[in-house]
Amino acid sequence: MDKEVLNIVDRRTGAAYDLPFFKGAIRAMDLRQIKTGPEDFGVMTYDPAFLNTASCQSAITFIDGDKGILRYRGYPVEQLAENCTFLEVAYLLLNGELPTEAELKEWVESITRHTMLHETSKKFLEGFRYNAHPMGMFISTVAALSTVYPEARHVLDPEVRRLQIRRLIGKVPTIAAYTYRHSLGFPYVYPDNDLSYAENFMNMLWKMVEPKYTANPVLARALDILFILHADHEQNCSTNAMRAVGSSQADPFLSTSAACAALSGPLHGGANEEVLKMLDVIGSKDKIPAYIDKVKAGEFKLMGFGHRVYKNYDPRARIIKWAAESVFEVTGRNAKLDIALELERIALEDDYFVKRKLYPNVDFYSGIIYQAMGFKPEMFTVLFAIPRTVGWLAQWQEMLCDAEQKIARPRQVYTGYEARDVVPMEKRGLTATSTTA
Ligand SMILES: CC(C)(COP(=O)(O)OP(=O)(O)OC[C@H]1O[C@@H](n2cnc3c(N)ncnc32)[C@H](O)[C@@H]1OP(=O)(O)O)[C@@H](O)C(=O)NCCC(=O)NCCS
Repeated sequence: MDKEVLNIVDRRTGAAYDLPFFKGAIRAMDLRQIKTGPEDFGVMTYDPAFLNTASCQSAITFIDGDKGILRYRGYPVEQLAENCTFLEVAYLLLNGELPTEAELKEWVESITRHTMLHETSKKFLEGFRYNAHPMGMFISTVAALSTVYPEARHVLDPEVRRLQIRRLIGKVPTIAAYTYRHSLGFPYVYPDNDLSYAENFMNMLWKMVEPKYTANPVLARALDILFILHADHEQNCSTNAMRAVGSSQADPFLSTSAACAALSGPLHGGANEEVLKMLDVIGSKDKIPAYIDKVKAGEFKLMGFGHRVYKNYDPRARIIKWAAESVFEVTGRNAKLDIALELERIALEDDYFVKRKLYPNVDFYSGIIYQAMGFKPEMFTVLFAIPRTVGWLAQWQEMLCDAEQKIARPRQVYTGYEARDVVPMEKRGLTATSTTA
C-alpha cells in the first residue's frame, strides 16, 4: 500500500480519494476531483491570508520559524553576515552559488556601472513636495524607471532580465539617497564608483562640500550587514506582491514598485518606523509596564514583535543587536536602546507574549541603529527596500522560469447576492436591498 497518499472520504457521496503527497503538501488542484456530481465545481480550499498555502516552490530562502533558522541558498544568515559582503550575498540569492573572485569582480563592476539615474528621473524626483514621505517618492520613482527602460517589458528574454536586475540593484541606493536629500532640501550627490555599495550609498546621503567622501568603515560594514539581513525572507507580503504582479508579465520596475508598496505598510517593512515612534511614546523605562498593559488589553500592538513565521527569536534581530554595539562605539549609544532592551526583557517574561510566542523581529532593533547613524524614521522602510530589491528580483526570476507558474489568480468563496434584476431608479429605496461598497 502506497503510504505517500492522503486518503479522503467524502461523506456526502461515500467516495474515497487518494491524494498523493507532493514534497509534504497536497496539491490543491487534486481536490477538484472531489465532486457530488458532474455539475459540481469540485472542492476548493479556503485560506484567507495564505496561512497554510504554498503558492510556489522555491530554492532561495529557508526559514524554520520554530527553531529561528534563516538560510539563503542553504547558508546560515549568520555566516553570510560574518563573512560576506552584501553584493556577494546578492549574487548568491540570484544565481544560487557564492561567486568566485572573478565572478564577484565582474558582478560588482556591472552593478557599479548602473548606479547613475537618468537626468529625467532626477527631475521627476524634484517634483515631489518638500515634505513628501521618502517611501512614496521611492515607490513612484522605481515605477517611473519603467518609462526610461521600455525594453524591460520583454521579461521572458533572459538577457533583458539580466540587464534590468543589474540596473535595479545599481539604482535603488541612488533613488533612496535622492529621496533623503530631497526631504532635507540638499542638492543631490552623484554616485562615486570608487566606493563599495554601502560606502557609495553613504556618500550619496551625507557628502557635503568635501571633494571626496570617506565613509566610516565600521558604519559602512554595519550597513552592509543590515543589507544582508534584509535581502530576502521567502514568501512575505511584498515578495508575494512581486510574484503576483510579475506573474502578469509586467516589467520588473513596475513589479518591484508594487512590492515596495506592500513593504511600506506598518505591519510589514513600515514596522521599523513604528517601533521608533513607539519608543518615543513610551519615553522612559518606568512607563513600560503601563504600555505593555495596554498592548495586552488589545489597544495596540507591540511594534517590532511577532511574526507570521517565526515563533522563536528572529535570528536577524539577534545579529542586529550584536551589530548595534559596534555602531554605538562610533555614534554613541542611542538612549532608546535601553528602553528597547527593557521592553524586550519584560515582554519575554510576560505570559501574554510567551503563550503567543511573540519575540522581537528584525524591525525591533534595526531602527535604533538607523537612528544612531543619523537617519530619520521616515527613511527606515526605504533602507529596508534597498536590499530587499535583490530578494524580490531573485524570486521574480525564479517565478518566471518556473514552468508550473501562471498568472496569479486566487479563487474566492462568493458570499454576495444571487442573480437579481436592476430596479428602475424611481423604485429604488422602496425595498431594503442596498449594501455599501
Ligand atoms: C507580524 C504580524 C503582522 C504577524 O501577524 P499574524 O501572523 O497574523 O499573527 P496574529 O495577528 O494572528 O497574532 C496571533 C496573536 O498574537 C497577538 N499579536 C501578534 N503580534 C502582536 C504584537 N506585536 N503585539 C501584541 N500582540 C500581538 C495577536 O493579537 C493574536 O492574539 P490573539 O490570539 O489573542 O488574537 C503581527 O505579529 C504584528 O502585527 N506585529 C507588529 C508589526 C510588526 O512588527 N511587523 C513586522 C513584521 S517583520
